[in-house]
Amino acid sequence: MVWRRFPQVNLANLPTPLEEMKAVSRDFSCQVYMKRDDLTGLAFGGNKVRKLEFLLAEALDQGANAVITEGGVQSNHARMTAAASRKLGLEPVLVLGGRAAEEKRGNLLLDDFLGARVYFCPLSDRKKTMKEVGELYEQEGLNPYIIPTGGSTPLGTLGYLRAAEEIKKQEQVLGLEFDYILAPLGSGGTHAGLLLGKYYYGLRAKILGIAVERRDFRPLVEDLFSQSVGMLGMEMKMEKGDFMINQDYVGPGYGYFDEATASAIRYFARQEGILMGPVYTGKAGAGLLDLLEQGFFPPGSKILFIHTGGTPELFAWNEFEPGEVDK
Ligand SMILES: Cc1ncc(COP(=O)(O)O)c(C=O)c1O
Repeated sequence: MVWRRFPQVNLANLPTPLEEMKAVSRDFSCQVYMKRDDLTGLAFGGNKVRKLEFLLAEALDQGANAVITEGGVQSNHARMTAAASRKLGLEPVLVLGGRAAEEKRGNLLLDDFLGARVYFCPLSDRKKTMKEVGELYEQEGLNPYIIPTGGSTPLGTLGYLRAAEEIKKQEQVLGLEFDYILAPLGSGGTHAGLLLGKYYYGLRAKILGIAVERRDFRPLVEDLFSQSVGMLGMEMKMEKGDFMINQDYVGPGYGYFDEATASAIRYFARQEGILMGPVYTGKAGAGLLDLLEQGFFPPGSKILFIHTGGTPELFAWNEFEPGEVDK
């Protein structure tokens, strides 16, 4: 298998379960399944751990002793990078874009327990600050390994190429083929990896990204896809129509907890006993429910929703009130 050519460290409990959402299937006359990547393990789990298995193997190969990454104040990627670094004996350093919160809640509280060194900076200065922090650590004699936003590099993308192999095997066990695979779309690595996996393992599903912010995602995913294909030394072309992006569930913006998201979180909690986070999975969940309601999926469609984690975001609030997560 192509991803096995690249070193990995074992951080996640794989394969993650793939379960039917029976109440959702019944409510919408489709077959709706969920891949529980919120159950990867490691500090509350999530999609990032799949990428980190490849990225941190490279960090160890390069003799790194610190890991620097960036994200929003409530970044799941930052929290998981901190936990993975600790597990491997590396020093975690996080550059978080946004205001230093008055109270440490949600992921920020977990970053604190993990003992990560945290630097806050204005959102637009994250790249510059990461570079400066890297130089500072080098002057101190540390050898930092830098992970760009969301771990979405060609190497990190292999995490979801590998996940596609799991999905293929789980399809065979269930005796079905999915028509659609849905997941929240943030920095693009999950989708670029799923697309690689679609072609490599011959998945029938169209890959649908529910955007969590308003930006031009297509070039981002296409670039990452073609860079990853180049890294693998393969010939693969992304066909139009195999990858769809939906921007209808962003609400007022990234990290904004709106009523539609809260209502989707309540629905999955009450119908299936499954919790989602307000920033990523809750928005994608709202998208899935609305698209089902609108009849976007032909009757009888087999749909796989990837629960990419992010539940600690919930604890940035004491109760639901509309507003930004990085408040
Ligand atoms: C919980 C969760 N889901 C989905 C995503 C988006 O994944 P990607 O950045 O690979 O697009 C993220 C990214 O931070 C995340 O934390």
